[in-house]
Amino acid sequence: MPFYGGSELANVYDDALEKGFGLVASNIAEPNIMMGLMEGAARKNSDLLLQLSGGASTFAGNEDPVDGLKAMGAYIDTIADQYDIGVFLNMDHQTDLEFIEAQMDLEIPSSIMIDASHEPFEENVARSKEVVEMKEEKGADVLIEAELGQIKGVEDEIESEEAFYTDPEQAVEFVDRTGCDLLAISVGTQHGVAKGKDLELRPDLAADIRQALRDHGLDTPLVLHGSSGVQPDQLQRMLQHGICKVNKDTRYQYEYTRTAYDLYSEDPTNIVPPEGVDADRDTFFNDTDWSPNKDVFDPRVAGRNIRERIADVHAELTEVSGTAGQSRYA
Ligand code: G3H
Repeated sequence: MPFYGGSELANVYDDALEKGFGLVASNIAEPNIMMGLMEGAARKNSDLLLQLSGGASTFAGNEDPVDGLKAMGAYIDTIADQYDIGVFLNMDHQTDLEFIEAQMDLEIPSSIMIDASHEPFEENVARSKEVVEMKEEKGADVLIEAELGQIKGVEDEIESEEAFYTDPEQAVEFVDRTGCDLLAISVGTQHGVAKGKDLELRPDLAADIRQALRDHGLDTPLVLHGSSGVQPDQLQRMLQHGICKVNKDTRYQYEYTRTAYDLYSEDPTNIVPPEGVDADRDTFFNDTDWSPNKDVFDPRVAGRNIRERIADVHAELTEVSGTAGQSRYA
């Protein structure tokens, strides 16, 4: 099934608000994680929301983010056709208006996050509003996510040493003035390697934000960033308060590298010569009897393991976040 635009994604968020589940927005930078995610989501009959950050687009495009989006967009579109679920793409933590405009013109993503959360309130409102107006002028079928508050930690090129929790009344003013479709809030999660046991999570604050918005007639889906370390019970508590999108990146990055590491460390001599053997890779080991093992070093071996592991991890996450069995587009 081809991947879908903003209108279809908005339908998924309507379901999410009604039924209390949250799409696990999963970051990718290359094809193996993407394919693992599709397999895991399809196994559980869950729609899938992929994410590409600015840095990931630049990486995938050999330093050109527009090329990265085109390349990954074509890849996602082609592989999504193999599955009977809805597949969506969010452009995560975008800051560059020129790149955002190109994203809308290419009509690839289903949603775009403008991240001006590090700016003072008025500047955040102005930049976020500019992106909403850009979408309206172009008639682009894309949802706009904006963020209020600041999440601690490092995500892609964005780093925050301090957290600023989102204020409910300010959230109302922000959504009202910007017209954003989704609101990312800061309620105690952290970007990067953070353990659930160390987080000062504030589901009560998420509830207050949700209530304040509803009191003003705003049914805006909320977004939780920095969810890699958040434990299942913590996540489920958050999902009770209008959080419909849960962002994970670091978890998949770790699973990718750990899976390759486990394979290569089972017997390192499949890759590198044993102690005492002086083998020269520039001659492709012409000067020794030792040879590396192609059954292990062929990148497709680690690649397949990575896809399987990511599929298992994501399948489990669809159970935790409640999207398992909920595909609207199956
Ligand atoms: O937008 C992406 C995230 O908020 C991911 O955070 O790397 O801590 O999972 P994470």
